[in-house]
Amino acid sequence: MIPFVDFKVQYHDLKDEIDEAVHRVLDSGWYILGNEVKVFEQELASYIGTKYCVGVASGTEAIALSLLAVGVKPGDEVITTDMTAYPTVTGIVQANAVPVLVDIFYEDGLIDSSKIEQYITPNTKAIVPVHLYGQSCDMDALRRIAQDRGISIVEDCAQAAGASYKGSKVGSMGTCGAFSFYPTKNLGAYGDGGAITTNDEKLYETLISMRNYGQTSRYTHDSFGINSRLDEIQAAILRVKLLHLDADNQKRRAIAHAYQSNLHKVVPLVERPYGDSVYHLFVVKTGSRDAFMKFMEDRGIKTLIHFPIPNHAQKAFVWKIGDDYQQASRFAEEIVSIPIYPELTDSQVDEIISVINTFGD
Ligand SMILES: Cc1ncc(COP(=O)(O)O)c(C=O)c1O
Repeated sequence: MIPFVDFKVQYHDLKDEIDEAVHRVLDSGWYILGNEVKVFEQELASYIGTKYCVGVASGTEAIALSLLAVGVKPGDEVITTDMTAYPTVTGIVQANAVPVLVDIFYEDGLIDSSKIEQYITPNTKAIVPVHLYGQSCDMDALRRIAQDRGISIVEDCAQAAGASYKGSKVGSMGTCGAFSFYPTKNLGAYGDGGAITTNDEKLYETLISMRNYGQTSRYTHDSFGINSRLDEIQAAILRVKLLHLDADNQKRRAIAHAYQSNLHKVVPLVERPYGDSVYHLFVVKTGSRDAFMKFMEDRGIKTLIHFPIPNHAQKAFVWKIGDDYQQASRFAEEIVSIPIYPELTDSQVDEIISVINTFGD
């Protein structure tokens, strides 16, 4: 059986380092907002290439808090993509804003920047581009749309830790970058966690207080805040994981290139020349998805769909929708994700390729 992800193998590869990190926190007697979070924030900011980073409780709250911090008010509109994990929408709604969905490029599943302007109204306060599957959105196009209109960009980097656009890391190009450390992510914790990166000192200070009940100094609350903190144990684990992130992403790239060169029966997504993907997922298209997934399952290889229902068609999406989600709808019917993670062995990759190449014979 080749599972879709394998956390046990990952933990055993890093066991000594992770165990040391966890015990260091337990021995310290300090479990919330201590040295580990502080140092991890500095290390992640320096890795991404921003001045600041704020650890929070999840990727969803990283989006919500970023939007609140840039000044999104109840009823303001926030533009995002029709094809993303629903939590992107949840984060927007958690910031009391109205989510506005834009169709995607069928070739790569990313927000279609040429369709954004038609959704902009006087109430549009932010755009949340999603760097889906480890790819980068076309940030120049997005910045051109946002900058003269005073619209903030909150990059959803949940699936793309380490990815870059024209040499800059995702999370360093918008007003803020929102990261998730959900265990499956390229930079995954062993529990929930998230972070916000920014170059704006005032935003940083707002976020530091906002994640901690709006506290500015002990028992002094100057503005609204919630409890959304990254905890010390997860931060210590993430410090270990961050040291391995580039090597892990390199392994993902090598697997992706093997798939791209050798898979004949399915169609991989198109790679844009401007970006360097970190292949959080390897998504292919096929006109016979149900048969393909059953074929793979019967041969012991797990596949999943990211994501089967575009956001405009989710029952929970109760806001106004546009009239053109054709590409996202077609994309959602054809896509399927095959295993890709650094711990996959060469022989497992070979097996996945040779099984797929016999599909339909
Ligand atoms: C694109 C995207 N945005 C946001 C999130 C939310 O992250 P979290 O699960 O840490 O809240 C996820 C992860 O599920 C995601 O894939």
